Formats: sequence, C-alpha cells, structure tokens
Amino acid sequence: MSKIACITGASEGLGRVFAQQLATQGFQTINIARNEQRLKELVAELGEGHRYHVADLSDRSGIASCVELIKENRINVLVNNAGFSQFGLFRDADIDQQSDILTVNCAAIMQLSHAFLRHATAGDAMINLSSITNYLTTPIQPTYCATKCFIASFSESLWYQERSRDVYVQALLPGITRTQFIERSSDIDGFKKKLMDVISQSPETVVATAMKAVNKRRQPVVIPGMSNKLLAILLPLLPRKWTVWMLGKVGDLA
Ligand SMILES: NC(=O)c1ccc[n+]([C@@H]2O[C@H](COP(=O)([O-])OP(=O)(O)OC[C@H]3O[C@@H](n4cnc5c(N)ncnc54)[C@H](OP(=O)(O)O)[C@@H]3O)[C@@H](O)[C@H]2O)c1
Repeated sequence: MSKIACITGASEGLGRVFAQQLATQGFQTINIARNEQRLKELVAELGEGHRYHVADLSDRSGIASCVELIKENRINVLVNNAGFSQFGLFRDADIDQQSDILTVNCAAIMQLSHAFLRHATAGDAMINLSSITNYLTTPIQPTYCATKCFIASFSESLWYQERSRDVYVQALLPGITRTQFIERSSDIDGFKKKLMDVISQSPETVVATAMKAVNKRRQPVVIPGMSNKLLAILLPLLPRKWTVWMLGKVGDLA
C-alpha cells in the first residue's frame, strides 16, 4: 500500500513542489489550500491516487476539517507549509489580517501537528515551515517574524520528544525563495526585487534539501543553501540591535 503525504498550502510555491517531489517518491498526496482551481490542476498533473481538500486555515472550521482529514487517513508525512505575511507598519495594519497570520502560521500548525503525532508511528515524518527570519528579525513584517520563531522553537521541542520512537520532526528554515510569497506580502519591485531574485533559491532546491534531511532523519533544523547557513551562524554573533536596525533600514523604515 502506498504511503500518504499531506501538504498544506499546496496550491502553489513550496507546497506545490513538495507535492510534486513526494509524488515522485511514490507517496499518494492529499493537498490542502483555498484555491480549488489550482488544487484541481495539481492533482490532475500528479495523476491517479492524489487528492485535494479545500480549507481556509485562518478559519476555525477550516482547521477542524483538516484535523478530521488527518484523523481519518493514515498520514505518513505531514508538511505544514501554508503561511503568509504582510509587510508594513504594524500600527497601520488591518488587525484582523494580523490575527489571521497568527492563526495560519501558528495555531493551525499546532493543531495539525497534534492530530498527526497522535497516530504517527516509527518512520513517519513532519516538516514545519519556519524561515531564516528565525535568526533575523525583519521589522517590516513583525507578526510574521514572530510566528516563524514560534514554529522553529515548537518543532525543535517536538523533534526531541518524538525521536525516541523514530518519528522525525523538522523545522525547515528557507531564505528568500522564488515563489509568489514576496509579491503577495509586499509591493517590492525595481532594484530590490532584482537583488532578491539574485540571492534567492528555487523552490525545487529548497524542497530537495528538506527531503534529503527527511531521509537522513538527524537534523531538527534544516537551512537550505550555504549563504543562509552562514547567516544563521554569523548573525547571532552580532549585537541583536545591529541586525534589527540594519534590516529595518533595508525595509525602508525610518
Ligand atoms: N518564499 C520565501 O521566500 C519563504 C522563505 C522562508 C519561509 N517561507 C515559508 O514557506 C511557506 C510557503 O511559502 P511560499 O513561498 O510557497 O508562499 P506562496 O507561494 O505565497 O504559497 C503559500 C501557500 O499557502 C497557502 N495559504 C495561504 N494562506 C492560506 C490559508 N488561509 N489557508 C490555507 N492555505 C493558505 C496558499 O494557498 P491558497 O492561496 O490557495 O490558500 C499557497 O498555496 C510559508 O510558510 C512561508 O512562510 C517562504
């Protein structure tokens, strides 16, 4: 019988690539997101045995429907990938949208992780999408950065708790990745956009790095790319105020 992988935020970006790479490895996939048209296209591309589930993870009933789905199916790999950000001044932000960032990026991951781990057995794995921002506070997206620190810390603890029964938990910390994420969060264009394209990684590379680490089952934290790894080592050596200040300026904040 084929193993089953469940991926949230599978309609595009990293989630879509996770679905493609897991399908290539022989998993049947269950793909979750809001955009049904994109999910239909993905499942058609992946072929027989792949499914989708439409759910809004900023909504309690959407999260509950995914928890039920995880309980009803014997999921072997869960990728908690759905997440979003909003760039700008917090005081000017729509507070309901800020709350949605917290719900999608933290509450949904916590609830889905719980449902998954209750039924997980030796050999199963869970990947939770954090970000390199775990090491670099970027003041242009305060709520988002805080949620990614939550995910890294939460996942490291789960990695420790689960390792004795050989259930592997990974916090994946990508740097800038070429998806729709930046366009969705901000109106960055021009030189900064070009610079981001140069220093960014492809989603295929990020997902391949995560999957390689799943096969090895050793690292609680996976940082794709040498430059991102170096940032994660070097930046904590600087006074934190300096990096916050520097990235505040990069974000064009006063
Ligand atoms: N791209 C980067 O530079 C980068 C760097 C570090 C970490 N990450 C993290 O990687 C993950 C994936 O990012 P990405 O770059 O692939 O972003 P993306 O291209 O914007 O895709 C985000 C995915 O999340 C889904 N999603 C968003 N809100 C949702 C909601 N309320 N309910 C259900 N699904 C929702 C979207 O689907 P629908 O719109 O169809 O619902 C979409 O499939 C995120 O957690 C992000 O924080 C990204």
